Amino acid sequence: MIVEKLVVAIDGPSGSGKSSVAKEAARRLGAAYLDTGAMYRAVTWHCLDAGTDLADAAAVAAAVEAADLDISTDPDVERVLIHGTDVTAAIREPRVSEAVSAVATNLDARAELVRRQRGLIAAHARVVAEGRDITTVVAPQAEARILLTASEEARLRRRGLQLGGTQSAADLERQVLARDAKDATVVDFTTASDGVVTLDSSDLDFEQTVRTVLGIVAGRGAAL
Ligand code: DC
Repeated sequence: MIVEKLVVAIDGPSGSGKSSVAKEAARRLGAAYLDTGAMYRAVTWHCLDAGTDLADAAAVAAAVEAADLDISTDPDVERVLIHGTDVTAAIREPRVSEAVSAVATNLDARAELVRRQRGLIAAHARVVAEGRDITTVVAPQAEARILLTASEEARLRRRGLQLGGTQSAADLERQVLARDAKDATVVDFTTASDGVVTLDSSDLDFEQTVRTVLGIVAGRGAAL
């Protein structure tokens, strides 16, 4: 059987639901799943752990270049290892969320992670990759490219639920909105570039969003 190459690129801001939607779309497509945000988070965790000065751009870039990073691309296995340490849970902690922009806004660090992401995408016949610059930089030739958006209110609500409702409104706003504002200085993930389909999920539930993504993929002529 010939399996045609299928790359689905999904970008969007925090709390747009892109991770869970992309993962479920990958399952239904029998595809690999790449969470590029987890890669930024893992190297950030490593910098914090190693005491790397996050304000020192050259030191951060060097840490990323030397990073022994191993991320699962199985949508049913969430696992991220850095230098052999399992950081799957630790990279979701607020201290990582608050520091990750130091890596995400470092252009040398980005270039290295983009290179690795392209390698991971090339290694799979079918893959759903999600992040902030997948539709534009990492995989602009993807068969389907989607910008998943949601209103600020919907995004804050979803992130709050994801974190178990333990965060104050002010903490949530800082984590979600302030981080997006910082990240948006290096990659534009709020407007769709040419050929990218915008999907606003504010008024859609999870199932509706997944189905709409699959519909967009099918409409792009990809063999399902
Ligand atoms: O999607 P997330 O919240 O796990 O992403 C973590 C951080 O990584 C976020 O601050 C944005 C950044 N990121 C990025 O700059 N480019 C990507 N392709 C993915 C994530």
